[in-house]
Amino acid sequence: MRECASTMLNGRKLATFRRQLLGWFREFQRDLPWRRTTDPYRIWLSEIMLQQTRVAAAIPYYERFLQRFPDVHALAAAPQEEVLRLWSGLGYYGRARNLQKAAQQIVAKHQGTFPSSEADLLRLPGIGNYTAAAILSMAFGEKFAVLDGNVARVLARLGAIRGDLRESQHWQELQETADLLLEPKSPGDGNQAMMELGATLCTPKSPQCLLCPVAQFCEGRRLGIAESLPEKRKKRATVEVTLAAAVFADGKRQTLLFPPPKNTKEKASADHVPTLVSRMWHFPTLSLAGEPAGKLSAFLRKLMPGAASRNWRLVPAGKVRHAVTYRAITLLPFLIKVQRLPRVPGARQVPLGDISSLPVSNLTRKVARAALAAAASVPAKY
Ligand code: ADE
Repeated sequence: MRECASTMLNGRKLATFRRQLLGWFREFQRDLPWRRTTDPYRIWLSEIMLQQTRVAAAIPYYERFLQRFPDVHALAAAPQEEVLRLWSGLGYYGRARNLQKAAQQIVAKHQGTFPSSEADLLRLPGIGNYTAAAILSMAFGEKFAVLDGNVARVLARLGAIRGDLRESQHWQELQETADLLLEPKSPGDGNQAMMELGATLCTPKSPQCLLCPVAQFCEGRRLGIAESLPEKRKKRATVEVTLAAAVFADGKRQTLLFPPPKNTKEKASADHVPTLVSRMWHFPTLSLAGEPAGKLSAFLRKLMPGAASRNWRLVPAGKVRHAVTYRAITLLPFLIKVQRLPRVPGARQVPLGDISSLPVSNLTRKVARAALAAAASVPAKY
């Protein structure tokens, strides 16, 4: 078995591979909004959104984002809160913060013109090799091959490559292979074709080799091991995290959300609020080990000295499960019915049934829903 797929194809075989892959892509590609443009701003946005989000989930966000921020100037000039609000629900909010920071740098350093060199792109926050190659090839027609998890899987099967693909030696070899296979006349479409193959036919489970336009070149298929490639990586163990959140509700079902800390100093002092939650508008939340309600009460008195009451009744409002990367989060919301919401500097009152006027995470949305369900069944008793 060959170690490196890059030794596999050359000359006429390579030309056939490229022709068949591109022909298949042009005939069968999905009609996706970012495939109708060569605007680097739009391509950049789509690639950032697609890094941790499925295509179907990304499309409505992509459309809404572009309606509000049609170009790099609009994004650079917007309040961060609005950018986060339009990202709200997509998760991994660092992506949105970096996107805006990069837009501001493009305006300040490049007069708002999207950089078209690899070095300039790599200097922007949130842009690594993958995103730079995607922008360079799809917007500027430059011959840079993309390599992400999907493409790596296709290449591992084509070359029957075993082992952990993310290991640097392997990844470098895969990049060389991707560079070699890339169609030089249409690098943008060539890259999209590899991604499309990974997304639609050469999928993680049950690859559809009978429909594959390049099956005849696939060493993994020839050896009957395509399905078992890439080999499983050693997975980081899941860490169980338990959190408790306080959801206030007054007589009009208004609730109280707290803002993300503005600077890292503030963030450090707010370390009782897990960063998993605190980077967006959030319910008062703390990490737990042990008895939750008592701990949450003590925490609230510390969070809002003067405004907190010893008499608040904390009503368990079910259990919310959420996963972020390797963390499995169990969040215990507690409903606190009050006549009047406590006045807390910086915190804002919003309807519990509609908290999305502020940028909030999906976890916070789930908590609001659980509290709302409990509010309907718990009689007001202050
Ligand atoms: N995943 C990452 N980039 C993509 C693209 N341009 N089209 C479809 N899926 C993708």
